[in-house]
Amino acid sequence: MSWWWRCLRTAVRHAVLEQARNRLALALVVFFVPLWLWLAYRVLPDTPVRFFLRAAGHPVSTGANTVTQLSGALHSIALIVGFMMFLATSRSTEFDRRLVTAGFPKVCLLLAKNTVLLLSAVLTGSYATVWLCFFWRPERLDVMVAAFAGGALTYGGAGILLAAVLRSELAGMFLVIMVSFVDLGLQNPVANPAADSPLLRGLPAYGAMQSAVSASTGTLTPWHQLLLSGCWAVALAMAGPLVLTLRGGRWRGTLTLLKRPGGATGTGRNAAWRLRHPVLSLIYRRAGITDPALVTGYEACRRLVRSSGPMEIAFTQLISARVRPLFWAMYGYVRVIDDLSDDTGDGDQDRAARVSAFSLALEADLRQGRSSDPVRGALVHAVWTWNLSSEGLASANAVFRMDAARQTEFANWDEWHTYWDTLAFPFDVSRPTALLGAPGLFLAPRDAEALRRWNHAFNLIDCLGDLHQDAENGCIKLPATVLGQYGVTAEDLRLKQPGAQFATMVHALAGQAREWLGQAASIGAQHPPVAVAFRTLVELQHLELRRIERNPQALLDGRRPPHPVRFQYTLLRGRLRVARAWQRHRPTGSVTTAVLPAPRPAAADHGPRTSQALLPPAPHPGGAVPPALSGRRMPQHVAIIMDGNGRWAEAQGQVRSAGHHAGQHALRDVIYGALEIGLPCLSVYAFSTENWARPAADIETVLSVVSSGLDMNTEELWRRDVQLRWSGSTDDGRLPAELVDRIHRTTRATRERTGLILNVCLNYGGRHELAHAARALARQAAHGGLDPDRITPRHLARHLYQPDLPDVDLLIRTSGEQRTSNFLPWQSTCAEYLFLDPLWPDIDRTHLWAAISTYATRDRRLGTTK
Ligand code: IPE
Ligand code: IPE
Ligand code: MG
Repeated sequence: MSWWWRCLRTAVRHAVLEQARNRLALALVVFFVPLWLWLAYRVLPDTPVRFFLRAAGHPVSTGANTVTQLSGALHSIALIVGFMMFLATSRSTEFDRRLVTAGFPKVCLLLAKNTVLLLSAVLTGSYATVWLCFFWRPERLDVMVAAFAGGALTYGGAGILLAAVLRSELAGMFLVIMVSFVDLGLQNPVANPAADSPLLRGLPAYGAMQSAVSASTGTLTPWHQLLLSGCWAVALAMAGPLVLTLRGGRWRGTLTLLKRPGGATGTGRNAAWRLRHPVLSLIYRRAGITDPALVTGYEACRRLVRSSGPMEIAFTQLISARVRPLFWAMYGYVRVIDDLSDDTGDGDQDRAARVSAFSLALEADLRQGRSSDPVRGALVHAVWTWNLSSEGLASANAVFRMDAARQTEFANWDEWHTYWDTLAFPFDVSRPTALLGAPGLFLAPRDAEALRRWNHAFNLIDCLGDLHQDAENGCIKLPATVLGQYGVTAEDLRLKQPGAQFATMVHALAGQAREWLGQAASIGAQHPPVAVAFRTLVELQHLELRRIERNPQALLDGRRPPHPVRFQYTLLRGRLRVARAWQRHRPTGSVTTAVLPAPRPAAADHGPRTSQALLPPAPHPGGAVPPALSGRRMPQHVAIIMDGNGRWAEAQGQVRSAGHHAGQHALRDVIYGALEIGLPCLSVYAFSTENWARPAADIETVLSVVSSGLDMNTEELWRRDVQLRWSGSTDDGRLPAELVDRIHRTTRATRERTGLILNVCLNYGGRHELAHAARALARQAAHGGLDPDRITPRHLARHLYQPDLPDVDLLIRTSGEQRTSNFLPWQSTCAEYLFLDPLWPDIDRTHLWAAISTYATRDRRLGTTK
């Protein structure tokens, strides 16, 4: 029973949220109903008109304005509730179908819809009755509410029915308007002198209108009319779901597939957990987590998140449901290890030893691909599933060990930043797309810095909140320079006597956090759901900062929960906005398509020898400017097969090498164009594995053009903010060692650049790349680190030459050839193709912009329907 009850509660919550999103309907109820009542009251005379009251069995005399108020109020309520139910049902049909397919009981969805209908009808009915009392007092308020609610229920039911049979929202709305217009128009004696015709008794709102007039004039209860209205409401409310069920297609559930826990479904052990919580089970199933042991681990992590601070919970609620398990697993690991290092019962040595044991076990588990510990098991699974690199794990674990030994101290802000950067990015979560659940989204690399700033602000606020606990532990997580500047010591804080300057220090730190939050404002600018989620988080953090500033001394009494109403209101508003943003920006592609290198400490070879300022791209010689495109329409990754150099040279009466040199200029202009339009990633095909079959002279020219280009351009690339990557076979020994060395030097030198990723495909062959990935997987399987039966496309994608680049959105080939010549086959499976006639040396940035504009007009369904 409790399972059904939980399903119902979840379904009702979703149905209510769905209605709450319909702001137009809410505004209509709030403003239109009183406006209409006022207009009818003021404009129409109160001349008596005759109304045949069936409950009394004789006509009664009532004012024209009164009866018009009643029919108008009924009309507006009926229309608004009909409209709300129609929209909510038609928009949620697809989601409901998926829920039913996943085993959600259909009857709960139907009950939820009817509960919301009943709730909306009673609320709007009561609201209209309250307004009516401002003009005159009905004899029977209860009957008036019931009459209005009856009309609303009838038309709400009609809304559900119409949503079941009609696909077009316009047609549905039009029908609701027309039917209610005829229905209520005919029953108003002011508009229709023959309103007492027995023929009208068959109209849906007849019972409601009769009851309303009865409530206004007499004290008797019009049972028959109320019952009639109720019958219409029930019949219509039941007819919609019935039609949906009979039509099958849209709601044909797979109830046979999934039954209650423990039911004899024959689906094995998985059924047991799957049905414990309907929405959770859906989340796990969509993430491909079906093993009960894994679910147990993820659930343990999820509970750790729920028992954490409100900000962490808010974060989980704002990110897409599809990546929540990833966040749970990562947070679970951090919490467990943090709890181990915070444990006050042990001595420093013991604590450090336990943290060390846990982190070493995790590193071993990651190598093996499995773990016996539930939390670590979930994390290992998450790292594999979401294709995360655990490069930073060892450093993060070292930091935790330091924490456990109470050795964490920050001399200055630099050390403080490095500490939080190390902890924030142990699993390459600098890939915000994976973290925020924006698959297919490629956040501009420049967002990495903003994300870092946000992380700093988050941790600074957290440190202030933890001041009391940290003081107890004797380990204040603030830079010593700051504490020194304000004369604050850990001991004073522990004794809660922090000195006169403590409040000033807290204000200064809050100001610093605010500044960082301001720098994080641009996160996700290209992806509205991410941007909205971050805006909400930032708003919540500002609330927290205001609270801290109001009473700095309270920080020493322990962590306080945030203001319940303001915090929850801001969060709820944010969640609704995020949900709406996701509706408009449906995800495309896979979660693995993310790129953002984790911030690395600055090193000597991170830039050219001189520390020059960055330059904007050189302008187009003809003054052309890029077209304005919405971020949503921008491809994230464009790949170009630069073909036609030879033919261009021949057409000019020159040797082929001249074509390759001219091609080099074309490429430079296209790179500027990519920078100007804000393209995050550009791949270019420079030399294929098949090109080794060319005459030696041609090969030599191409390679020397690349080599000299690299030599000349390292600084240029750096200054124009371009990050160079190389895709191609490294191990066949065919490329000159000197060239390979040059490429490595340039990639190293530009790896901090964030304006554009230029992926040069040199000695590249798609089949070689796939074979290379297959070899890596085979090696892992042979060492027992990978179960061959669990290999998925994600596993293979991890071993591509540049695994963190997004899939190709647009693939362009020049020179009129219409083939892909072994170029990025894995990455281009869902790409749009564009074949251009000009030869590569004739191409410039305007061609790239035109191609991107064409791409923006294409309808990318990616396997789905419209
Ligand atoms: C493309 O131009 C450049 C490389 C293959 C390096 P081509 O050399 O293929 O020129 P065409 O196709 O012969 O004109
Ligand atoms: C594709 O051009 C390879 C590069 C542009 C580097 P090719 O000219 O070599 O390809 P095919 O021979 O026409 O397929
Ligand atoms: Mg060619």
